[in-house]
Amino acid sequence: MPAPDLTRRHSLHALAALAWPAGVARAQAAGGITIRLSHVVARQTPKGLALERFAQLVHTRSAGRIRVEVYPNSALYGDADEMQALQLGAVDMLAPSLSKFSRIGFPEFELFDLPFLFADQEQVRRVQSGTLGQQLLAALSRQRLVGLGYLDNGFKHMSANRPLRVPAEFRGQRMRVQASRVIAQQMRALGAQPVVLDFGETRRALATGVVDGTENPVSNFWTQGMHEVQTHLTLTHHAYLGYAVVAQERFWAQLGVAERQLLVQALHQSLVWGNAIARQENAQALAALREVGGTQVHDLAPAQRQQLQAATAPVYQALGQRIGPHWLAQVQAAVQG
Ligand code: LMR
Repeated sequence: MPAPDLTRRHSLHALAALAWPAGVARAQAAGGITIRLSHVVARQTPKGLALERFAQLVHTRSAGRIRVEVYPNSALYGDADEMQALQLGAVDMLAPSLSKFSRIGFPEFELFDLPFLFADQEQVRRVQSGTLGQQLLAALSRQRLVGLGYLDNGFKHMSANRPLRVPAEFRGQRMRVQASRVIAQQMRALGAQPVVLDFGETRRALATGVVDGTENPVSNFWTQGMHEVQTHLTLTHHAYLGYAVVAQERFWAQLGVAERQLLVQALHQSLVWGNAIARQENAQALAALREVGGTQVHDLAPAQRQQLQAATAPVYQALGQRIGPHWLAQVQAAVQG
């Protein structure tokens, strides 16, 4: 059976007809395996670098028998179709942001989006490596996905063509957000209007005025060239952005035990490495941004941060039922340590 043409020209319904039947690995010639992994950010980001490292480790440790093809920057699939492509078997692995799992039936993942919940990556790590984080990964089997691990990017900051330091400055701003009810509610609580757009469309939407601003860690802001279309970045550090690496269950089940062990070990080491460089990647992006100028970078005074935190606090009450009160209680207890 010819390998399906996985370019984005094909609609996913057409791909459904082309999708490989269950249990058939993407076999290379001479008995090798090709694994297609798609993501939406640039290579020079924590996710881009960690996944490239994963591909290198797998290639080396399998003596070239297993090849991971990494397709960055929405080259193969973007936000709008990557999850469907995974479920159809048109791609084997993804690393979507945790904010993007609610759209496929996992609203509990939006707990990671809660504003001002986490103070630092250590608190996030405590949650992800503990019972709660492992239960969330296991829950992905509801949609026939295998949750393989978590990866950091970092903390998000707000950008627009004005400083965004206090709620009054958010009023009326159209802010691009990921498809997460918590993030949308966060923006509304600040007086802004959330606009859900694919990550790959964001820079153009900012450049053309479709939206006024957005939020993201600096590594994404910088590598997407958002500094060329945003005059102000306010270092709000208001919420976390990270990822879950997932595989399609049918693909994963047809691998051999030794192949799965090799992939799990290589991925684990790549995620540990990626988490270790994430902070540095964001710091380097911020330094480059300050160096190149163009975008004014604003720190938040404690009183301003308190105002933003107070304005967004109602999100917890408003969306606690959607996330699941038991999840909310668990994550807040875990954060307090
Ligand atoms: C976004 O859509 O803003 C981010 O999830 C992109 C990413 O994968 O970091």
